[in-house]
Amino acid sequence: MDLVSRLPQALAAPSPPIPRLDRMAYGGDYNPEQWPEKVWHEDVALMRAAGVNLVSVGIFAWALLEPAEGRYEFGWLDRVLDLLHENGVSIDLATPTAAPPAWFSRRHPESRIVTRDGVVLGGGARQSFCPSSPAYAEAAARITEQLARRYAGHPGLVMWHSHNEYGGANGLCYCAVSGEAFRGWLRDRYGDLAALNEAWGTTFWGQRYGDWGEIEPPVAAPTAVNPAQQLDYLRFTSDAHLANFRRERDILHRWSPGVPVTTNFQIANCKTIDYFKWGAEVDVVSNDHYIQPERPDNHIELAMCADLTRGVASGTPWLLMEHSTSAVNWKPRNLAKRPGEMRRNSLSHVARGSDAVLFFQWRASRFGAEKFHSAMLPQGGTDTRVWREVVELGADLGRLDELRGTRVAADVAVLWDWESWWALELDWRPSVDLSYLDRVEAYYERLWRDNLTVDFVHPTGALDGYPLVVAPSLYLTTPATAARLRAYVAGGGTLVVSYFSGIVDETDTVHPGAYPGALRDLLGLTVEEFLPLPAGGVVHLSDGAVADVWTEDLALAGATAELTYVDGPAAGRPAVTRHTLGTGTAWYVSTRVDPAGVLRRAYTDAGVTPPDGVPDGVELIRRVGEAASYVVAINHSSADAVVRASGVELLTGAACPESVVVPAGAVRVLRTL
Ligand code: GAL
Repeated sequence: MDLVSRLPQALAAPSPPIPRLDRMAYGGDYNPEQWPEKVWHEDVALMRAAGVNLVSVGIFAWALLEPAEGRYEFGWLDRVLDLLHENGVSIDLATPTAAPPAWFSRRHPESRIVTRDGVVLGGGARQSFCPSSPAYAEAAARITEQLARRYAGHPGLVMWHSHNEYGGANGLCYCAVSGEAFRGWLRDRYGDLAALNEAWGTTFWGQRYGDWGEIEPPVAAPTAVNPAQQLDYLRFTSDAHLANFRRERDILHRWSPGVPVTTNFQIANCKTIDYFKWGAEVDVVSNDHYIQPERPDNHIELAMCADLTRGVASGTPWLLMEHSTSAVNWKPRNLAKRPGEMRRNSLSHVARGSDAVLFFQWRASRFGAEKFHSAMLPQGGTDTRVWREVVELGADLGRLDELRGTRVAADVAVLWDWESWWALELDWRPSVDLSYLDRVEAYYERLWRDNLTVDFVHPTGALDGYPLVVAPSLYLTTPATAARLRAYVAGGGTLVVSYFSGIVDETDTVHPGAYPGALRDLLGLTVEEFLPLPAGGVVHLSDGAVADVWTEDLALAGATAELTYVDGPAAGRPAVTRHTLGTGTAWYVSTRVDPAGVLRRAYTDAGVTPPDGVPDGVELIRRVGEAASYVVAINHSSADAVVRASGVELLTGAACPESVVVPAGAVRVLRTL
C-alpha cells in the first residue's frame, strides 16, 4: 500500500479556519449553575490542567436567567464568563431556549406539545414547547436579545450556541397551533388548493379539500393517512424548527457580527430534521454523537455519522459538539467505554473533519435525570481512569493542532436524503422490513471495511470527480435528480443503486410507467413486480450469496444480468444487473444482500482500488492541507498493527521512515512525507 500516491491530485481549496477558534477546540458543556460558586474556581483550575479551551455555557439556564417573565438575573453568568475568560477558556455561549421556564408553560398552555394521538405533554423535562408556538417564538427572541445585548462584546465569547438539538425531544407536534401554521406553510408551497389537491392526490379515498381550514395535521386516524400529507408535515416541521433557529441567529448576528452561530445537530439520529437544508444556515456545522454501546461495530456507525456531518458541512471543518467520555444514561444498558475507547472515538471524529473534541459534559451532575451520565470530571473526581484519559486526550489534541482546517480526502460518494428516508418509511410500503438506514449502513460498512473514505452528498449536490457513486435507498427520486444521475453515468461515472429506488417523486406519487420510473432508462431495466420475502425468508444468488427481505421480478431493457436468483419467488430471473450508458456504468441490486460482491465489481468499472495491506480492524483516513497531508490510523483490533506509510508521527514525535506501528486499540497520526 502506498498511501501517499493515493492522495487525490487536487482537493478543493483548503477551508478558511473556523472564525475565532485558534486551537483545536477541547472541552464540553459546562453547567456551573448546578454547583456552588466555590466549585467554579476548582472547575477552571482543572480545565486548565486538562487543556480545556472551549466550553458551552448556559444551555439550560433560561429559568435562572429570567426567573419571572421580564425579570433578568445575569450576575451569576457575568461572573462565570469572566472567570472562564481570565483562565483562558473560550466561551461558546448558548441561548437557553431549549428549556422554557415553568412560568412560560403555565402562562401559555397552548404552547405544550400534543402527540399524534392527542396527548398533551407536560413539563418537568426540557423542550416542552411546540415548535410553531408564536408565544414561544416571542419569549425565545426576548431572552436571546437580552443575552446578545449583554454579552456580544464579552472578550471570551468566540461562538454562539443557539438552542440545543432542535427537534430532539419535541420533533413533531400536532396541536391546533401547529395545524394553523401548517396551513400557512402549505399556502406558501402550493399557492392554491387545486395545486395541493393535485399534489396530495386527494381524489383517492375522497379526501378533496374545498377550504384551507379543512386541512389538519396528519393526526392519528382510523387508517393510513395520506402519505403526501405526512411527507409535507415532516418538511413543515423541519422548517418550523429552522425558523426558530433563524430568528435567534439573526438576532445574534445583529448584535455581534463576525461571531459564528452554530447549533448542535444529531446527524443520522434525528429523523425529523433535514440537516442538508440546515447546513447552509449555520455559520459552523456542529454535531452531537453518541455511540451505540451494544453494537460491536459502533465505530463504523460513528465514522458514518462523522462523514455525514462533513457532507452537511459541504466538506468544510465542523465541530464535534458533544460525545461522551464513557457511558451515557439513556440507553437500556449503558455500557461504559473501556480504556482507550474515548480517545479512539474522539480522534475518529477529528480524522473525519472535526476541528473540535467536546463532550457532554464537563462535571458530572449530582442530581437530575442525567446523574449517571459520564463526564470529563466524573463523580469520583480526578483520581479516576476517565479523568486521567481526559487529561491525556487534551495533551494529544495540542499535538494535532496543525490538522485544523485541512480537508478529508474521500474516494467515493454516497447519496443521502432525509426526504427519501421519510418517504420510504411511511406506512403501507410493500414490506415493513424496508429500512433506509439498513441499506445506507450496509453499503457504508462495506466501503469502510475496504478502507475507502466516503463523502455523503445530497442528491442535488455535485458528483463530478467521484469515480463511484452509491445510491443505497433513493425511493424518492425527483426527475431532476434522475437527470443528474444519468448525466453522471453518461459522462463516465459508475453508479450503484439499491432496490426500491427511483419509485416516487417529491409528492410520493409513482413515476409514470413501470418501476423504477425515474431510473428505468439509466438502469436499463424495469421492475415488473416487487417480490418481498416473508419474515425470515432467504434466497440464494448465482454466486452463492444469501439474500433476504426483498426480491424483484426484473425485465432487462439494455442491462445485463450479472447475478441471478437461484431460488425464491424470482428464481431464474436477474438479481444484480449492469448497464453501460455513454462512457459509464449503472449497477442495480434488486435484493438485500451483502454489497461486497457488487461493490467489488463496481470498483473495477470505476477504477477504484481499495488500498491493500491494511491490517484488519485498522481504519485509515487522510486529511490534506496546503502545507502537509496527514494519515490517521486507528487500530480497533486487539493486536498491534503495522501500517506502511512514512512521515512524522505527531502523538509520539517519532520519525517513521517506512512504517508506523499502531498498538492495539491505539491511534497514530502521521504527517506524511
Ligand atoms: C444530548 C443533549 C445533552 C445531554 C446529552 C446526554 O443529546 O444535547 O444535553 O442530554 O444528550 O447524552
